[in-house]
Amino acid sequence: MNILALESSCDETACAIVTATKEDKLLVRANVISSQIEIHQQFGGVVPEVASRHHLQNIIPVIEQALSQASFDLSNIDAISVTRGPGLVGALLVAFQVGKTIAFARNLPWIGVHHLEGHLLAAYLSEPDAESAVPPMPHLSLLVSGGHTSLILVKDFCDYEVIGKTRDDAAGEAFDKVGKLLGFLYPAGPRIDRLSQAGDENALKLPKAMLGPKGGLDFSYSGLKTWMASYMQSTGPKPSLESICASFQAAVIEQLIRKTQLALKLHQVPAIVLSGGVASNRLLRQKMAELCHQNNLAFYVPKPTYCTDNAAMIAAAGYFRLRRGERSPFSTQVQANLPLSTQDRSL
Ligand code: KG4
Ligand code: ZN
Repeated sequence: MNILALESSCDETACAIVTATKEDKLLVRANVISSQIEIHQQFGGVVPEVASRHHLQNIIPVIEQALSQASFDLSNIDAISVTRGPGLVGALLVAFQVGKTIAFARNLPWIGVHHLEGHLLAAYLSEPDAESAVPPMPHLSLLVSGGHTSLILVKDFCDYEVIGKTRDDAAGEAFDKVGKLLGFLYPAGPRIDRLSQAGDENALKLPKAMLGPKGGLDFSYSGLKTWMASYMQSTGPKPSLESICASFQAAVIEQLIRKTQLALKLHQVPAIVLSGGVASNRLLRQKMAELCHQNNLAFYVPKPTYCTDNAAMIAAAGYFRLRRGERSPFSTQVQANLPLSTQDRSL
């Protein structure tokens, strides 16, 4: 089955073509991403109206590029998968309507999927010319992006339980907001990651947020952000920028690792999957690999281009639903706050 997938929930317009084999291997034939990061940088974050307008301009060229990369035309496509939510409603609408229209025009099965289901299943994608191991079911997934920080029990394909989530900011959002305080451009996560390598993570004593029993498996980053804001306004000698970054990064990652540790005590799983844009963070990868090693668990992280927003992961999420006979009717609409665990499977 050749799936054409589209994604436009935030600031990336993306199209991918993925071939699902009889053995359920998902081979990525094309993965085209048009990022609007530079456009939004001047505003310090994503401006929804601007994002929608650029999605409109980019969506057709991105589809044409993906078809040409795969040496396909629309007659080679067997099904369409497109992000239905969550995301910015005006942004979501662009890929969603185009996906629906292609499905209607070519009489193809199509499905609208949850963006996070895409992130969760990105670890099942592989390159046509490379053997890659995929995670076993069930497993525990830590999904850390600019919009989400969640611990999700992936019991099977299409069967998820969110066991912990952020009560305020997402981890990536905390990186971006604190980066802004430090004068960095959006998104600041990669720069903080890079600078931290030359810094001392013990230079600042940040508050130990949400590490007590009351927080359970939930996360919270607004306290760290507020602490950093008042620290940066305070006068007096400060350590190097590298050490400020390293201390903040260590506090964010400690919370992610401690909550994952707690989740492992409550749920027995053979493997951990890390996903979302923050999964590219070096300290997080290293600490999570150590945690898995100590607990004898297998550890999986999708390759960086499949960790940040892309359409190949949307093809993966669509495939496992189409495989069980799910189809979306044309009356389906986008949903800005679409929940993962209660997703209406008939839509
Ligand atoms: O998954 P993603 O591309 O978009 C969302 O769905 O949000 O994640 C983007 C987020 C941004 O907040 C960015 O700062 C963060 O991921 N990020 C990082 C790193 N690379 C990207 N955060 C920390 N360290 C990194 N290396
Ligand atoms: Zn995302």
